[in-house]
Amino acid sequence: MLLLSASVALSFLGSFVYAQSNNTTALKIATIETQFTNAQLVPSLLKTFRPSALMNVNFSGIGPISPGQDLTKQQVASAPEISIVPANSSVSLQGNYTLVMVDANVIGTNQSVGQTRHLLVNDVTLTGSSSLNVSTAHGVAVTEYAGPSLGKGSGAHRYVILLLPQPSSFSPPANLSKPNVGVSVFHLTEYISTSHLGQPIAGMYFDVEQGTGTATVSPTSSVVTSISQPGTSSASSSSSTPRKSSNAAIRPVGNSVVVTLPAVAFVLLASYMCL
Ligand SMILES: *[C@@H]1O[C@H](CO)[C@@H](O)[C@H](O)[C@H]1NC(C)=O
Ligand SMILES: *[C@@H]1O[C@H](CO)[C@@H](O)[C@H](O)[C@H]1NC(C)=O
Ligand SMILES: *[C@@H]1O[C@H](CO)[C@@H](O)[C@H](O)[C@H]1NC(C)=O
Ligand SMILES: *[C@@H]1O[C@H](CO)[C@@H](O)[C@H](O)[C@H]1NC(C)=O
Ligand SMILES: *[C@@H]1O[C@H](CO)[C@@H](O)[C@H](O)[C@H]1NC(C)=O
Ligand SMILES: *[C@@H]1O[C@H](CO)[C@@H](O)[C@H](O)[C@H]1NC(C)=O
Ligand SMILES: *[C@@H]1O[C@H](CO)[C@@H](O)[C@H](O)[C@H]1NC(C)=O
Ligand SMILES: *[C@@H]1O[C@H](CO)[C@@H](O)[C@H](O)[C@H]1NC(C)=O
Repeated sequence: MLLLSASVALSFLGSFVYAQSNNTTALKIATIETQFTNAQLVPSLLKTFRPSALMNVNFSGIGPISPGQDLTKQQVASAPEISIVPANSSVSLQGNYTLVMVDANVIGTNQSVGQTRHLLVNDVTLTGSSSLNVSTAHGVAVTEYAGPSLGKGSGAHRYVILLLPQPSSFSPPANLSKPNVGVSVFHLTEYISTSHLGQPIAGMYFDVEQGTGTATVSPTSSVVTSISQPGTSSASSSSSTPRKSSNAAIRPVGNSVVVTLPAVAFVLLASYMCL
């Protein structure tokens, strides 16, 4: 009896918590954050990644992509349209930004070798009201967008797009401060710190693979099974087996964590009162 009423109350509590956290923008941001960890971009490329805005990346003929989406070289040959939606009304997006895209190579790549820079624009501005367009029109295009160009059979490369705030102390290195610097290898985090850029406020990534048509998912991969414990995903970082991340499996995570903790507390409380 008590158990029954407890479970009824529990389901109400569950939906209450769910409704409270059912903010589409916040959920999408949380999904991106989780995917960066599942793809081991965190901590191998970025020590941490705490986006405060949602990045929409729209490739011509594709539409907005989802994090980790598998795309072909042809689909991403032209620069995407990018827009930003703040997580909530207390996130203020002011000033100029730097937009960058790098090739973080396959999962397991030691990032100390650097990353190929496919896009680097300083003085990017955000235009619009609720959804802000990332406008490079008046920016300094250090490296113009260059679509992926990767070797056949080199695995699923992770292309990472980040938007970083430029504080007044922003000072890029001399050889990366003028337009028309071609695609080359640099060290993203070194560039961020020496230029005095802020931490990325938004990001997105996609996969491109040349050669093999189908995804190779390692059956022993610990990445997918560690979804609810992002901290353990680094356990497989030594594996050099290229694998694709499964988007569908990850979506519910943001909610189930939020819902489960109070629900467990409620059950404990209910059974405690029952005694
Ligand atoms: C929560 O969001 C999903 C889509 O993200 C929507 O289908 C659902 O109706 C929303 N639920 C509530 C209670 O707002
Ligand atoms: C707004 O979003 C920021 C960044 O994600 C977060 O730190 C903050 O707690 C949020 N504030 C509210 C009121 O939800
Ligand atoms: C994204 O691209 C599609 C065409 O591919 C277009 O119809 C749509 O309006 C674009 N959305 C945004 C938000 O730019
Ligand atoms: C949900 O996100 C929108 C921005 O898309 C924001 O205006 C609103 O305050 C958020 N609501 C909650 C409850 O965080
Ligand atoms: C990456 O390579 C550097 C230099 O070779 C080495 O010091 C570092 O330990 C390596 N990192 C990982 C995670 O293997
Ligand atoms: C932002 O960039 C523009 C050039 O596009 C520049 O004129 C302006 O001074 C910059 N603003 C800040 C706050 O740095
Ligand atoms: C943002 O970009 C979209 C797609 O290119 C365009 O339709 C819209 O007018 C732009 N909005 C602003 C405020 O620039
Ligand atoms: C810029 O200069 C640094 C040395 O200060 C060098 O390591 C780097 O390769 C140069 N980058 C470019 C794009 O020329």
